[in-house]
Amino acid sequence: MTSSILLTGGTGTLGRLVLPLLRDAGCDVRVLSRRDRDSLDGVEYMSGDLLKGEGIEPAVDGAEIILHLAGSTKGDTEATENLVRAASRARVRHLLYISVIGADRIPLSWFSSKLGAERTVAGSGLPWTTLRAAQFHDLTFKTVRAMAKLPVIPVPGGMRFQPVDARDVAARLVELTLGKPAGLVPDLAGPRVYGMAELTRGYLRARGKRRLMMPVRMPGKAGRAYRAGENLSLERAATGERTWEDFLSERLR
Ligand SMILES: NC(=O)c1ccc[n+]([C@@H]2O[C@H](COP(=O)([O-])OP(=O)(O)OC[C@H]3O[C@@H](n4cnc5c(N)ncnc54)[C@H](OP(=O)(O)O)[C@@H]3O)[C@@H](O)[C@H]2O)c1
Repeated sequence: MTSSILLTGGTGTLGRLVLPLLRDAGCDVRVLSRRDRDSLDGVEYMSGDLLKGEGIEPAVDGAEIILHLAGSTKGDTEATENLVRAASRARVRHLLYISVIGADRIPLSWFSSKLGAERTVAGSGLPWTTLRAAQFHDLTFKTVRAMAKLPVIPVPGGMRFQPVDARDVAARLVELTLGKPAGLVPDLAGPRVYGMAELTRGYLRARGKRRLMMPVRMPGKAGRAYRAGENLSLERAATGERTWEDFLSERLR
């Protein structure tokens, strides 16, 4: 059956991977973006800004399913409230959202804004599904690459990560989109747990670089939450297939 889907965030790292999978599954897809774009390969691009509340009603109009992946460092709660307000007036039969593992446990503003967005989705009155994913390899890569430009790399001690490949997250989201509304589903994390030093060493090795690393301590409540592993999902997670090393060997080929 062809479904008519509004994909927010369809131009981002994750959304660009989700889009062809939805098309391959035979879905009609409309993408909301802040920039004007020509429709391409059967995908309709509509311009709008979720945070400013612009262009949302026409984007939502006629969509049966909304896969909400748009996100930023700030304002995800407000952007999601604006989307949900419009979606509630339209005939949307399934609203899906991507959040982050630790949204309810890490005291940093980005995590709090993801939690606010989760609650908005769950309280929307629409049938919904939310997936919490770990940090994508792409984000780990950007962070480590930037740090490796320094002569000495500060490495926060006691913090662990389960980075996941965005392709694994995209595949899971498409599976959920084609399924029934399921509420908060099991988290999706990467296949291995790493310390920050190990992630950094993996990058340096793959680039053939050498750097000194200096252990540092992340201060405050957020540091304590990370050291307690509140950003991890060790028991309730499904795991993606591709490791950090797999990602590096492809990215740096
Ligand atoms: N990166 C991670 O490690 C990670 C981990 C867990 C969950 N997530 C969540 O996964 C989602 C996708 O992440 P990503 O890394 O793919 O993000 P990204 O590459 O930074 O892309 C962000 C996307 O959001 C759209 N967007 C941002 N602000 C918008 C606004 N005000 N109105 C409309 N669209 C807006 C952008 O569209 P335009 O620029 O075209 O307008 C773009 O498509 C986000 O919700 C993020 O919080 C990410």
